[in-house]
Amino acid sequence: MTSEHVRLRPEIASIVPYRQGRPAAEDAFKLSSNENPFPPLPEVVEALSLTSVNRYPEGSAAALRERIGEKFGLSPEQVQVGAGSVSVLAQLIQAAAAPGDEIVYAWRSFEAYPLLVAAAGATAIEVPLTHGYRHDLRAMAAAVNERTRMIIVCSPNNPTSTVVTFAEFEELMASVPRDVLVVLDEAYAEFVNDPSAVRGHGLLERYPNLVVLRTFSKAYGLAGLRIGYAIGPEYVMDAARAVAIPLSVTEPAQRAALISLDHEDELMDRVGRLNTLRDRIWAGLAEQGWDTPEPHGNFVWLQVGPRVQEATEVLLRHGIVARALGDGIRVSVGEAESVDKLLSATSEVVGMRPTEAATGS
Ligand SMILES: Cc1ncc(COP(=O)(O)O)c(C=O)c1O
Repeated sequence: MTSEHVRLRPEIASIVPYRQGRPAAEDAFKLSSNENPFPPLPEVVEALSLTSVNRYPEGSAAALRERIGEKFGLSPEQVQVGAGSVSVLAQLIQAAAAPGDEIVYAWRSFEAYPLLVAAAGATAIEVPLTHGYRHDLRAMAAAVNERTRMIIVCSPNNPTSTVVTFAEFEELMASVPRDVLVVLDEAYAEFVNDPSAVRGHGLLERYPNLVVLRTFSKAYGLAGLRIGYAIGPEYVMDAARAVAIPLSVTEPAQRAALISLDHEDELMDRVGRLNTLRDRIWAGLAEQGWDTPEPHGNFVWLQVGPRVQEATEVLLRHGIVARALGDGIRVSVGEAESVDKLLSATSEVVGMRPTEAATGS
């Protein structure tokens, strides 16, 4: 007897597809997707109107790769642009790992990682965060074996907003075999002020197995256009290009990214303003008794415990759409007007955390 269903790869059929942050009601603040609350620059809007959408884009994003190369002192060949940095990560995973191969990353981290690894048919090795919600890089290094093809390090880590330090990262790089690709996902790099936090671009020369991911979605406010990039060794970028879906980076996205690089000062000023709100939120949370780790991205982490869904509903009642992930809630730093609402919601939720006696800690 034949089945009613077509035959899918079982490891794919069992995956829960990626869920986006909920859309917000009109009077609510959407703080569930780590987006930038500022509207696009007028120059970006103008550039978008110049595009001929009946034509395919210039597929290699040559002008943008050249420009990004200049920014980091690299050749255009050392840059790969994709429809969001998550696309470039998918390309790198496909290029490096096949069934039987392993990819090591911290957990909890960016939700796309397990999906992309499964899509490639590779095996995910998830290494728990420390009690301080940080990467445990020594444990990650210890998880490497002859099947390992990639280690993904996310700094600042989505969703906990913690960073990896230069010292920790360099210790990892020193212990990882040179034939294992290390991907440093720096989607939120522009929000980091801590001088001890790792910055990958200056390390590329020293570590030939390092690739750094950056995006225009967060600090540059172009999430809806889908554009991000990787920088790293030319032959690795070529391998990513080899598996890329052709022509998926649109012309408007390329134009908007170029314009945004022309207006970096203005955009970084916005980042500074968001960081001021972030610090206000963090201070407010500490006052309420939260043990939220110091946030370094444009979002904060609330470790709630088993009552996380209930807590998310409380936030919603206060007009805050946040993202429940596991036993915590991630809240993006958004409009200035959202801060007081958020803090009044969290003051209601703080008591929902398990007591120390209950957790035994
Ligand atoms: C850690 C991390 N990496 C990558 C991305 C993907 O960004 P994009 O594909 O929009 O460049 C995100 C988005 O939320 C993220 O949090």
